Amino acid sequence: MEPIIPNKADLDPIVLASRDEISALQLERMKWSLTHAYENSPFYKARFDEAGVHPSDLKTLADLAKFPFTCKDDLRKSYPFGMFAVPREKLARIHASSGTTGKPTVVGYTRNDIDTWATLVARCIQAAGGRPGDIMHNAYGYGLFTGGLGAHYGAEKLGCTVVPISGGMTERQVSLINDFKPRIIMVTPSYMLSILDEFHRQGLDPRECSLEVGIFGAEPWTNAMRLEIEQAFDMHAVDIYGLSEVMGPGVANECVETKDGLHIWEDHFYPEIINPETGEVLPDGEEGELVFTTLTKEGLPIIRYRTRDLTRLLPGTARSMRRMAKVTGRSDDMIILRGVNVFPTQIEEQILKCDGLAAHFKIELNKSGRMDNMTVHVECQPQSTDDASRQRAAKELAHHIKSIIGISTHINVAQPGTLRSEGKAQRIVDNRPKQ
Ligand code: DLL
Repeated sequence: MEPIIPNKADLDPIVLASRDEISALQLERMKWSLTHAYENSPFYKARFDEAGVHPSDLKTLADLAKFPFTCKDDLRKSYPFGMFAVPREKLARIHASSGTTGKPTVVGYTRNDIDTWATLVARCIQAAGGRPGDIMHNAYGYGLFTGGLGAHYGAEKLGCTVVPISGGMTERQVSLINDFKPRIIMVTPSYMLSILDEFHRQGLDPRECSLEVGIFGAEPWTNAMRLEIEQAFDMHAVDIYGLSEVMGPGVANECVETKDGLHIWEDHFYPEIINPETGEVLPDGEEGELVFTTLTKEGLPIIRYRTRDLTRLLPGTARSMRRMAKVTGRSDDMIILRGVNVFPTQIEEQILKCDGLAAHFKIELNKSGRMDNMTVHVECQPQSTDDASRQRAAKELAHHIKSIIGISTHINVAQPGTLRSEGKAQRIVDNRPKQ
């Protein structure tokens, strides 16, 4: 694996600017973003008024702490288009991610937002060692998920040739990698491991393939997994982070020359770390929940969005912009299963649709081979304890979960009274090995 050192002359000068320059730009943009949200989004007008704050109260970046937080539930309550700060006709695109129940969280982008997003993903690919002219194999899912189209537009913007294969059909992923010879792959790290297994199954040596750079994200992964992928493919593996509510992939990315955490593109997103219990802002270096304020987004400006992701802010290294350490976990109960975000409340909702099942359940997570899998243990109703009813209910629940949430699960229908909890229900049993 040859080292890759991106040429500094090719980088956007702001990523190497002085901290003073970056802060000045952030303050100017933050004033714009708060004003834009207040004046054009009825949600933010009401929220700020209620908290007794006005955009003109922001004199320094630290004054942001006076403003209220936004959370996923706010987007759910405004479903589908209630949070937007531009008329719907000005939106060029809609994406969505899992809500905690029922309806997904809907996000929207103006043409300028799409352009900024593409520019930032291009910046990520460049930080990972990608160059104009590279072939990029894009195995992030296309559709409402931001991964596929987000990566696609960014790679095109950088000047790459994109192979929009999307996720799934692993055998074909391997043949196209062999035939098209991409230099870059963008995919979830867990799916990269399945692609690796498929190389072996086909009797191919992954180290001989053309891939030099992998840009992995959408779920937590460890430095141990980085090492495994790098050695197996003889390639560089870097981390990309993002979330739909803030933009999608490309909020932060690791640099290939340092691989020491993800530089946050601070000219567009202002990060804070808070104590998830008290909401108090913590100093850089301390672990807590990551909160973002968008500085330039038009369609859906987001102020102090609680990501629920736990991490730390670190000083810049390869770029002047601050880094976030790899995400260590979440302050809520969201599960990421094979790249799909799932909340226990979504499972409960599907259980309640099935005749013969009671809403007493546990979600068990295991690893079989490379893949994570989920078993839902759920009680049947007292009148439905016979084998035939339980089998029917299990089949129905698996079907609802697959068609509404999009994941395959094992269902174990247990006898009444066997899964009750005393006090707060402990819904998740995570048996996956900690890496
Ligand atoms: O997962 C966007 C994305 C797509 C990022 C492709 C990177 C690559 P959502 O579906 O809204 O958006 O899920 C966002 O996924 O709050 C984190 O919990 C988790 N996540 C995303 N990237 C990482 C990462 C996309 N690199 C949620 N490490 C976030 C750990 C990540 N967790």
